[in-house]
Amino acid sequence: MADTRPVVFCSWGFPEAGISLLREHFNVHVWDGPDGAPREVLLKELADGAAAVLALPPSDRLNPEAMAMAPNLKVISGFGVGFDYVDVAEATKRGIAVCNTPGTLTETTADQAWALMLGMARHVPKGDRYVRSGEWKKYEPALLLGTDIHGATLGVIGMGAIGTAVARRGKGFGMRILYSGRTRRLEAEAETGATYVPMDELLAQSDFVSINCALNAETRGLIGSRELGLMKRTAILVNSARGAIVKQAELAAALNSGTIAGAAIDVFEVEPIAPDDALLACDNAVFAPHLGSATFATRSKMSRLACENIIAVLHGHRPPFLVNPDVWKH
Ligand code: GLV
Repeated sequence: MADTRPVVFCSWGFPEAGISLLREHFNVHVWDGPDGAPREVLLKELADGAAAVLALPPSDRLNPEAMAMAPNLKVISGFGVGFDYVDVAEATKRGIAVCNTPGTLTETTADQAWALMLGMARHVPKGDRYVRSGEWKKYEPALLLGTDIHGATLGVIGMGAIGTAVARRGKGFGMRILYSGRTRRLEAEAETGATYVPMDELLAQSDFVSINCALNAETRGLIGSRELGLMKRTAILVNSARGAIVKQAELAAALNSGTIAGAAIDVFEVEPIAPDDALLACDNAVFAPHLGSATFATRSKMSRLACENIIAVLHGHRPPFLVNPDVWKH
C-alpha cells in the first residue's frame, strides 16, 4: 500500500537515533548513496513534495532556487548548528521553519578546537609522521620544539556557546583570555575570566587566536592579510567555525611568509579543499576534515534533536530550536 504520510527527505544516512524517530511518523526517504544526496536529487525530492528536509550544513545549499521548487516544504532542519547554508530570510518569507541543533555539539566542538591547537602547538601530526617514517634515531634536545599553551594568551573571536567552552578549557590550562565579538558576554567573563577587547587588540596580544563566531555577512572574510599582519609572528590561528571567515589564500601567504607561526584548521572556504590549494602546501599547519562535532555520542544527539525539530513542526508544535522565530505566528 502506498505510504501517504508526509515525506521527510534526509540528504545523508544520518545516525539512526534520529531517523528511527522520524520513521514512526512519516514516509522517510533517506539518501543511501555515498557523499550525500547530489543536488539534483535534493531538488527532485523537494519538487515531488517533501514536507521536511534533514540537511547537512554547510554542504546542502537551501537557497531561494531550492525553496521555489518546494511546494510543500514546511521545515528545513539542519544536522548541526550553523545555518549559513540556508537563506533564512527567504525561508521566513515562505513560512518555512529553519531549525538547528545548538547545545548538542558545543563541548565536542570545543574539544576539537583544542585538539587542533595542541596538535599544532606541539607538532603532534609531524611527530607522528616522523616516528612512522623511521627517521627518528635518538632523543634530541632541539627536535620539533613547540609553543607552550599554559601561561599563554588565548584570544577567542566570538564568545558564543562554543567560544565560551573553548575559553573555559583555556582557563583550565592557566591561560589569560581575551575575547572580541559583537556582544559583550558578562556571564562568560565571570566564568572564564576573559576580557572583552577590540578585535585588533586581541589579534596583537594573543598567542593563540581561536575563531568561534558564526559565518554571516559581517564575518565573511573577517580575517585576511591585514588582520594576520597584526598577529604575533609566533602566534597560531585556530579555525573550527567556518572556512569563509578566513581569506584562505591570504592565510596561506601569511603562513609561507612567517607572518604567523602556524594554523590549525578544521573548516575550509570550499569543502573538501582542492588537493592543490596553496594552503595544503603549508608545512606549518595542521588540518582536519571538518570534524568539530564528530564523536559517536554527539552525532547521535544531533540526529535525535534535528529529527525532534522536524516532528514538532510537522505536528504543528513549535520546535525545540527554531532559527527564524518570526515564522511561528501560531
Ligand atoms: C557544523 O559545521 C555545524 O554547523 O554544526
